[in-house]
Amino acid sequence: MIINGKTSTCGLIGNPVEHTLSPVIHNNLAEMTGTNLVYVPFLVEAEKVEEAVRGAYALNIKGVNVTVPHKSAVIPYLEEIDSLAEKIGAVNTLVRIQGGYKGYNTDITGLFRAMQSENIHIKGENILLLGAGGAARAVAFLCASEGAATIYLCNRTMEKAKRIAEEVNNAFGKMCIIPVSFSDISGLQEASFLAMQCTSVGLYPDVEGVVLADGEVYDKIHTAVDLVYRPYETRFMKLVRAHGGRAMNGLKMLLYQGIIAYELWNGCSVSEEMACELLQKMKEEMGIYE
Ligand code: ATR
Repeated sequence: MIINGKTSTCGLIGNPVEHTLSPVIHNNLAEMTGTNLVYVPFLVEAEKVEEAVRGAYALNIKGVNVTVPHKSAVIPYLEEIDSLAEKIGAVNTLVRIQGGYKGYNTDITGLFRAMQSENIHIKGENILLLGAGGAARAVAFLCASEGAATIYLCNRTMEKAKRIAEEVNNAFGKMCIIPVSFSDISGLQEASFLAMQCTSVGLYPDVEGVVLADGEVYDKIHTAVDLVYRPYETRFMKLVRAHGGRAMNGLKMLLYQGIIAYELWNGCSVSEEMACELLQKMKEEMGIYE
């Protein structure tokens, strides 16, 4: 990598940022595509979000990723916001435009592309969506917009599940989402489900944690997507596989959210070959050798 007067800068704002894999994605993409660009992490405290966004613009920073806990906090400081990101209420990618940044949510388009790459489709599926935090809310919008047959939203705190269901159902003008409790799941009539695991249960270091205890429910899960990727195979994924289902983790979601951000910043398209190569580099960074 040669840094010179023409090098453009992109980066990540969040807190913490030291374990991020995003520099692996973007700096490798810059190298693969022969682009004079560097990507660096920026630790930003909550009360400095506005200064960070305005400062990044003033410093001619080309693109910014936003991670926890600033994905909603950046919104008031944007020049424009993409309609999907606005609906979701969270932004993870800022693209430099005249006068400021335009915010996008490539987490969700990234998840969609990751699922497509694994031949997992939402349309016509019965979805069992687990969780009602920020990630689950975005996935609820995705499932509703991609034409799932039914979407059961299950969360420990029922109030939060009800709130998301109401919001999504209002946004789409129909009953897309049915909030349920964990004890309701075994009584659902559908014979099979695509499960979307959007809680933080099972995330390192809680590697023995699993959100669904009921073994019988696993028999109905033909495919599961766990948004967690540390550990690489969560206990939830192990249980799905042990009951004969397919399971993917969230690493490809992370990969494709980065790829889509890179494409937005550079006006290019990243090939599937490059995506595969990048995934390999991310796994190496995580110490995963399969
Ligand atoms: P994110 O932004 O990643 O979605 P979040 O907004 O903190 O994170 O949401 C975390 C999700 O994991 C929530 O659905 C939370 O359930 P509650 O709404 O009941 O808190 C879920 N979660 C976390 N720990 C859990 C546990 N031990 N059992 C069940 N659900 C849990």
